[in-house]
Amino acid sequence: MWESALPTIRTAGVQEVVIRDGDVERLLDKLDPGQRVSLLTGADTWRTRPEPDVGLREIVFSDGPAGVRGPGWDERCTSALLPSPTALGALWDEDRVRRLGELLGDEARRKGVHVVLAPALNLHRSPLAGRHFECFSEDPLLAGRTGAALIRGIQSRGVAATAKHYVANDSETERLTLDVRLDERVLRELYLAPFEAAVQAGVWLVMSAYNKVNGVTMSESSLLREPLKGEWGFDGVIVSDWGGVRSTVASAVSAQDLAMPGPRGPWGEELLEALASGRVPAEAVEDKTRRLLRLASRVGALTPGGAPSDRVPAPDLAPAPNLEPPLPPGPGPGALRQELRAAAAAGFVLLENRGLLPLERGALDRVAVIGVHAGDPRVQGGGSSEVFPQHVVSPLDGLRDALGPGIRVAYEPGPAPEGGGGQAPLGARYGRDPEGGAPGVRLRVLDAVGTVLSTTHQPSGRVLEPELPPGARTVELAAVLHPDTSGPWTLGLGGFGALSLTVDGTAVLEGVFPPETEDPAVIHVRPPQHTARIPLTAGRTVHVVARRELASGTGRATVLTAAPPVPDPAEALAAAVAAAGSADVAVVVVGTTEGGESEGFDRASLRLPAPQDELVAAVTRANPRTVVVVNSGGPVELPWREAAGAVLLTWFPGQEAGHALADVLLGSAEPGGRLPTTWPATLDDAPVRTTQPTGGRLPYEEGLHIGHRAWLRTGAAGPAPAYWFGHGLGYTTWELERLGTPEPTRGGGYEVPVTLHNTGTRRGREVVQIHLSRPDSAIERPVSWLAGWVAAEAEPGERATAYVRIPARALQHWSEGAAGWTAEPGRFTVLAGRSAGDLPLRGAIDV
Ligand code: BGC
Repeated sequence: MWESALPTIRTAGVQEVVIRDGDVERLLDKLDPGQRVSLLTGADTWRTRPEPDVGLREIVFSDGPAGVRGPGWDERCTSALLPSPTALGALWDEDRVRRLGELLGDEARRKGVHVVLAPALNLHRSPLAGRHFECFSEDPLLAGRTGAALIRGIQSRGVAATAKHYVANDSETERLTLDVRLDERVLRELYLAPFEAAVQAGVWLVMSAYNKVNGVTMSESSLLREPLKGEWGFDGVIVSDWGGVRSTVASAVSAQDLAMPGPRGPWGEELLEALASGRVPAEAVEDKTRRLLRLASRVGALTPGGAPSDRVPAPDLAPAPNLEPPLPPGPGPGALRQELRAAAAAGFVLLENRGLLPLERGALDRVAVIGVHAGDPRVQGGGSSEVFPQHVVSPLDGLRDALGPGIRVAYEPGPAPEGGGGQAPLGARYGRDPEGGAPGVRLRVLDAVGTVLSTTHQPSGRVLEPELPPGARTVELAAVLHPDTSGPWTLGLGGFGALSLTVDGTAVLEGVFPPETEDPAVIHVRPPQHTARIPLTAGRTVHVVARRELASGTGRATVLTAAPPVPDPAEALAAAVAAAGSADVAVVVVGTTEGGESEGFDRASLRLPAPQDELVAAVTRANPRTVVVVNSGGPVELPWREAAGAVLLTWFPGQEAGHALADVLLGSAEPGGRLPTTWPATLDDAPVRTTQPTGGRLPYEEGLHIGHRAWLRTGAAGPAPAYWFGHGLGYTTWELERLGTPEPTRGGGYEVPVTLHNTGTRRGREVVQIHLSRPDSAIERPVSWLAGWVAAEAEPGERATAYVRIPARALQHWSEGAAGWTAEPGRFTVLAGRSAGDLPLRGAIDV
């Protein structure tokens, strides 16, 4: 079960450092209480403290899972951008997920990072959850197996993964204080289960969440000790979510190990005093320090004899002092791009196809590509996981590239989606650095009397973590704006504290905006925008200067945006309809906007930002041969879904978005994804329709019945979902023919053979899903629950047998009375099929 009891770094093709537990003990003995305590709070936002006395170097953290940003927010440090975790959940393919984990591990090494803060293992309890896109599934087994595969991939590179956010951090409203109420069985069978899988996969860190569970904040919770460290045997580090340690004694006596970020925090001196006075036992601090040293040894940051590290910083990063000899070359950029492109396509879910896809290239003369998202897709969700991608291939560029010069492509953006599409940081497109004229903006940091302390060029006006020299008082972003359209432009300034914005020396925005939240995702990543409308003339440049006074508690982020006049919606709609009407095929790309899916808040609605539903309805009326491409991280309502020729979900597809889309639309790749979460037709139909706590509390009243389990329970008495958990079409057709006799396996599980027949005309891959049910049970249970799956491939006309493994745990439930897992004797029904709503084959297992 527990794979890596020895703190050994197992790395692919890189230097191996082996440090045994005995060595860690010896080093621990050398550290006095002051040294130990000082190691348990970060040195800064992304690093722990070094301790030369024992050969401990700093441990460098970076966010994930979209990519590895590196230690800090610097646009010049670009990252490989993966599809969103929802897209990874849709793969149902652990090999591919593991490869993506390896890619993240390689990225981490390239950037001198030891710890990647991924995966997020919380569940899709409600489609409204702001971080839905960042989690894998509504199902604990799918989330756990996907997470475990990613962890194995990352850690195979000697880089630590972090299972987060432990536990019940399934929505964002009041996330810092939210008190989730649920019983132990629900915790064990649902919300803890993916973390248990992560520990079994050997994860090196677990992050405690911001929220409370049953009245206790997670950094102080007894759940850190049991089951995590005790029963499951987790021997790694429990890191806090950023700012999640809020007490000295209560968190230190709990099993919380490391408080991030630093250098200040509630531990430090206070913890040393509490240790001296006996309020915190010495063993508690000793164990935390031991775990930190063990982590350091695992990631190559502990070399007591002075052996050099094998970690190398990215060439575009200021080298961290302790990271030196070069890494052997990983897969080249071509291979990396190919992997990301194939992974995106493999996670696309084809919801509907009325014979339209794949498109026959030979029959195409004119293709209409429609939608703001076609030209400017959303490739990642908002919040701490954001990275600066190396590049982004838009659907329009991907299709143009694939269709070639012989096929005419007409692009019409249609009406702009409301609520955020256009607020892009002022960058290369419209901005020039006033010093030298390079695309982008000029960042200057000034002191109290206006003396320039530092001046640098920035690719865009989104400056989140600038270097602030001593005496820094004001951050200034300046640019020459080159309007290409005449009309009212929207200039925006984001950040907290005293802000001002001038255009050609005239103030257009001024005020003091104190933060109304302590949420780091809002303060440091997405501060609210204040906007001003300014009439500008095409071709006539203006000088824009944004200033923000630095004050304590206002963070470091300053964001300058500029958006051109919004085209007349009626005209834009008419142009889109005309383009669709005169094309052989229309591809309309719709999606959520920056104001939608993000960390820090939950969504209020599942509707696409207006007027995209009207756009799709009008385009499908004009041309029934319309493919609707949905670019969202989580569920949205699709009221026109019956009218479209095809509906394809691409999630947040990452940097290779457009190439992957072209591959799937033109049939060189099959859309491989299956829904990791049930999609409701409307929010009103969803089992959990609100994430709003009452008096700070959020009772998980539905208990065991989340996602498809809830829909199955309501059955015919309620609305049907739009698409079931597990649903997804490929480019061939399948018949599931036979469920063979389940054979017991070692460890108390079963293997169930399922024969399926490729009845279509091309090779394909199908995901065979097994559920269990227990109609006559003496205890409350879900109607059915996912117990295993495996993918099978077959040529046209061919049969294949899928051997689906069911773990012993799938036949057990958590007994609060016995405080353990137990199997109810009797007959379980085995159901096999292609989604939770389509399980045609039946068998039985007798326990
Ligand atoms: C998020 C974490 C993230 C951390 C560091 C927090 O606000 O909840 O997921 O890893 O910030 O950026």
